[in-house]
Amino acid sequence: MAALDAVVDRLCCPVCRGSLRPDGRRLLCPAGHAFDIARQGYVNLVGGHRRHHGDDARMVTARERFLGAGHYGPLSSTLAELAAAHAPADDGIVVDLAGGTGHHLSAVLDASPHRYGLCVEASTHALRRAAKVHPRAAAIGADVWAPLPVRSGAAAVVLSVFGPRDVGEIERILGPWGVVVVATPLPGHLAELGRLVGGIGIDPRKPERLAASFRRFERLALHQVTRRIALGHGDVHAAMAMGPSARHLTDDDLARAIARIPEPVDVTVAVDVSVHRSQRH
Ligand SMILES: C[S@@+](CC[C@H](N)C(=O)[O-])C[C@H]1O[C@@H](n2cnc3c(N)ncnc32)[C@H](O)[C@@H]1O
Ligand SMILES: [Zn+2]
Repeated sequence: MAALDAVVDRLCCPVCRGSLRPDGRRLLCPAGHAFDIARQGYVNLVGGHRRHHGDDARMVTARERFLGAGHYGPLSSTLAELAAAHAPADDGIVVDLAGGTGHHLSAVLDASPHRYGLCVEASTHALRRAAKVHPRAAAIGADVWAPLPVRSGAAAVVLSVFGPRDVGEIERILGPWGVVVVATPLPGHLAELGRLVGGIGIDPRKPERLAASFRRFERLALHQVTRRIALGHGDVHAAMAMGPSARHLTDDDLARAIARIPEPVDVTVAVDVSVHRSQRH
């Protein structure tokens, strides 16, 4: 709750865009719109009907397990280094868009000891974890395709790691000289799993589409995180179950497919990490 108290003045009411203030176990705006703070410490700031529910319990558990095993450690470190190197020297917060369990946000906050963070997520299952991931991280339920309940100019850094993003909203919430750090999978990313177990490939035009969507920004850095990792069957299961393929496969289908592949299996991690600065300063 300390983190939520620290960032509440950077949030706004999703219904009327008014300011929010803590009022016992809820956040309240001057017009009387109230949002309960969940037992786990996150607060749902969705005005009206929830259109996106994000990842289900099975996907979130699988992602937590895969990330917890350290397979994306080099990605977390790269995000943390780039955020610390390029963020402006102000008190803007770090907003992790579609931040899942807040795993990468936690690494970024460790490398930026004076900043607070905010995980913005649609999935209740992910929010329960994100609210506790770091003492300086708050977590709010929100839809990244709707106007974010975040004040204009509140963020020094926006993280967008493998999640949906609305570039217009990123631009709005970034403060002067603020940066967005984006991670997107390259076509070879976890490709062996797609071949061995079956899954959805990565659009080869993704880097092109990303560059086009950030055309109003200045690109400050581009890094590739590439490595080979050896995965046991449990890790392969987690990697498949946390991704979009999980929606098409039952646990039994997945277990049967995995039983047929060698163990451990070498898999490629290939991720583009880019830093873009808004030109509006
Ligand atoms: C591939 S996961 C990435 C999570 C996190 N960034 C990470 O790398 O660990 C995509 C995330 O986007 C969330 N999500 C999907 N649609 C969303 C929406 N419309 N608004 C907010 N979050 C959404 C999902 O719940 C999921 O946690
Ligand atoms: Zn309101």
